[in-house]
Amino acid sequence: MSAPHFHRLTVADLHRETNDSVSIAFAVPRELASAYRFEPGQYLTLRAPFEGGEERRSYSICSGLDDGELRVAVKKVGGGIFSTHVNEALKLGDSMDVMTPMGRFTVPIDPQAAQIYVGIACGSGITPVMSHIKTILSREKKSRFVLLYGNRSSRDIMFKDALEDLKDKHLGRLAVHHVLSREAQDLPLLHGRLDARRIATLVRASLPGQKIDHAFLCGPQGMMEAAQIALADLGVSKDRVHLELFTPATPTAFTRARPVKESGSRGQEREPIAIATVKLDGVTHRFPVAADEGVIDAGLRAGVELPFSCKGGMCCTCRAKLLSGTVTMVRNYSLEPWEKEKGFVLACQSRPTSPAVSLDFDEA
Ligand code: FES
Repeated sequence: MSAPHFHRLTVADLHRETNDSVSIAFAVPRELASAYRFEPGQYLTLRAPFEGGEERRSYSICSGLDDGELRVAVKKVGGGIFSTHVNEALKLGDSMDVMTPMGRFTVPIDPQAAQIYVGIACGSGITPVMSHIKTILSREKKSRFVLLYGNRSSRDIMFKDALEDLKDKHLGRLAVHHVLSREAQDLPLLHGRLDARRIATLVRASLPGQKIDHAFLCGPQGMMEAAQIALADLGVSKDRVHLELFTPATPTAFTRARPVKESGSRGQEREPIAIATVKLDGVTHRFPVAADEGVIDAGLRAGVELPFSCKGGMCCTCRAKLLSGTVTMVRNYSLEPWEKEKGFVLACQSRPTSPAVSLDFDEA
């Protein structure tokens, strides 16, 4: 995995998916085609200036590998300045800073395979699952996909027509169960929340006695936990369950331009507790890190542009290898145990616990 980079891309298409969500396709110039090659399940981080600073948000790619486009979907969240801007003000031909694709909510595609996939998603959690569905149906001709998709009402269903079209195009290979919490349906099982009992019942009914090869889960934490319980009951091993935590209510944004001199300390610079040495794109930078400060924030304070997106321990965009020194990570929702064993850390969450730390963002 090499360090991600921003490039300015033009909005080539905007499509309203629901009243409060829109999908955006970006034009990728030929010379950047390989930089924006993605795997289903990955996301793009978008960056835009707001009120003297900047904001970043990550949005999952919804296009499949054979769609010939790079498209993300953005649902408007209450009080969300970025998603509101994208839904209400972004126009065709506008340009935006778009980071190269990141994320490990992925599985290898095998054209010879005959596998059974299950997707369990709520709301805009469908976005990365949509990329998987399209790609698997198109590239693994013998595989099947069962989708359980939770929403409040039919008006909130994203990609509703696209899912119907996919069902028609790939007859018998895609089953979709819409579960609506605030709208009655003919089948009582489809009315309510995607809880563990409902998930297990629907999966059993769709795939009686069949082994699930991979399950993709994307939605709020409660649904993710319920789905993991249900899948464990169904005998699906943990390594076959792929998770993408999605927290629409928690802004994971970054507002830039923290002052170099902290207010409250009346012109005194923050006392450094460590010196960080970081390697990025072959260039070495050195800067001080203050108490209770992560390496990413310290780098930004020193004017070093390091890769990050959520700054909440979820996305893994800031992954780097710790070459020397020690750190503690405040949160980690995205590094796998094997990555920690190999010395990888989330730089946004890393607080130095030794006087000097050295991190390499170029290490794959
Ligand atoms: S920026 Fe997302 S985990 Fe660090």
